[in-house]
Amino acid sequence: MSLKNKKIIIGITGGIASYKVCELIRLLVKNGADVRVILTPNAKEFITETTLSTLTKNPVYCEQFNPKEWKPEHISLADDTDLFVLVPASANTIGKIANGICDNLLTSVVAAFSKDIILAPAMNCNMWENSFIQQNIKKLEQHNYQIIRPESGNLACGYEGVGRLADVQTIFDAIVKNFEKKKLLSGKKILITAGGTKEPIDPVRYIGNHSSGKMGIAIADAAYNYGADVALVSTVDINKPYSVVKTNTALEMYESVKGHFSSADVLIMTAAVADFRPVDFCKNKIKKEKKDALVVELVKNPDILKEMAAIKTLQQTVVGFCAESENVTDYALKKLDEKNLDFIVANDISLPDRGFNSDYNEVTIIDKNKKQYKLAKQAKQELAYLILRYIFKIKDFDNG
Ligand SMILES: Cc1cc2nc3c(=O)[nH]c(=O)nc-3n(C[C@H](O)[C@H](O)[C@H](O)COP(=O)(O)O)c2cc1C
Repeated sequence: MSLKNKKIIIGITGGIASYKVCELIRLLVKNGADVRVILTPNAKEFITETTLSTLTKNPVYCEQFNPKEWKPEHISLADDTDLFVLVPASANTIGKIANGICDNLLTSVVAAFSKDIILAPAMNCNMWENSFIQQNIKKLEQHNYQIIRPESGNLACGYEGVGRLADVQTIFDAIVKNFEKKKLLSGKKILITAGGTKEPIDPVRYIGNHSSGKMGIAIADAAYNYGADVALVSTVDINKPYSVVKTNTALEMYESVKGHFSSADVLIMTAAVADFRPVDFCKNKIKKEKKDALVVELVKNPDILKEMAAIKTLQQTVVGFCAESENVTDYALKKLDEKNLDFIVANDISLPDRGFNSDYNEVTIIDKNKKQYKLAKQAKQELAYLILRYIFKIKDFDNG
């Protein structure tokens, strides 16, 4: 793939592996990319601006305060770029980004950047294993930053272990893949629901379920990374680079899905929506005194999935999820038919270490011709891509 017209920022931090960036920049420029470099002040201890401006044929940025420009540089650089690649990413800068700190030009541009950010960390192996640094890495991944993990080998500090910057070709391939990925679902509008609804009984109590929303959020992230226009209707309060509508109850979710559905190409409902809600909401806390029992009368909630599938056009696709603890495939097939779905994704919540609240899942996708496709137990993030690839018939693409 040519990188012609692609604007890429290479952010460089104060790490010994920064000398390897020159080779990466050379490869990017050779393939047509317009590369701009931002250095942290500490990176200047390791690599010179002269080398970088010669390789990129562009000025190199480092100073946060530049009185010659009317528009702050951290905003204009962030606005005018397709992809940000931080290489090498030091433990220090990773920590700052994960905590929203913007104390130099590089961290300020990252904070103002609304497109994809790839980080290639490199550091001493003990630093890499440090639990705070690992927490920061995990936090960044959860917020859709792509991490190209360091490799194992001899380190410049004399240690041997994991911490060496990933191979330059690996980083280059990840950059190319990022642009290719963005084209897979470009132009598609995907509406996704996630989480478990909460049906209030009184101001302190509700009827809920164990759904964490992780599977739906993973699918929304994957769809966004494939370039789709994503709207996530979620009971989990999260910040994402795509549209997120926070809802609590089944009725709120119903209204939101109804409002978005007509413009969506695909609806994927992973949310665990309560089948019933209390008839009455008691505006004051229910007291236990003078009561041996409490009866809460319930009324049926709308079946969001069934209602949307009933009004879908020939161009729209509706995908349901079904979490069952027994006869999983039988129930899934029944739901597929009864609700007139295009696909159902079935998972067995009775199995340990997967499904509800877990980071892992094992699912079977069944299409409307009853064809079954089983996906082995794996991280929900990985499964999300496989589910989308199956639904959208995306062949020969490995996220790698
Ligand atoms: C010779 C030398 C090599 C270093 N290499 C690394 C490294 O590979 N990774 C890292 O995270 N920190 C490394 N450091 C420490 C960073 O330079 C230090 O944490 C600095 O504050 C990073 O600043 P920055 O993140 O603003 O660029 C190194 C320091 C020295 C003196």
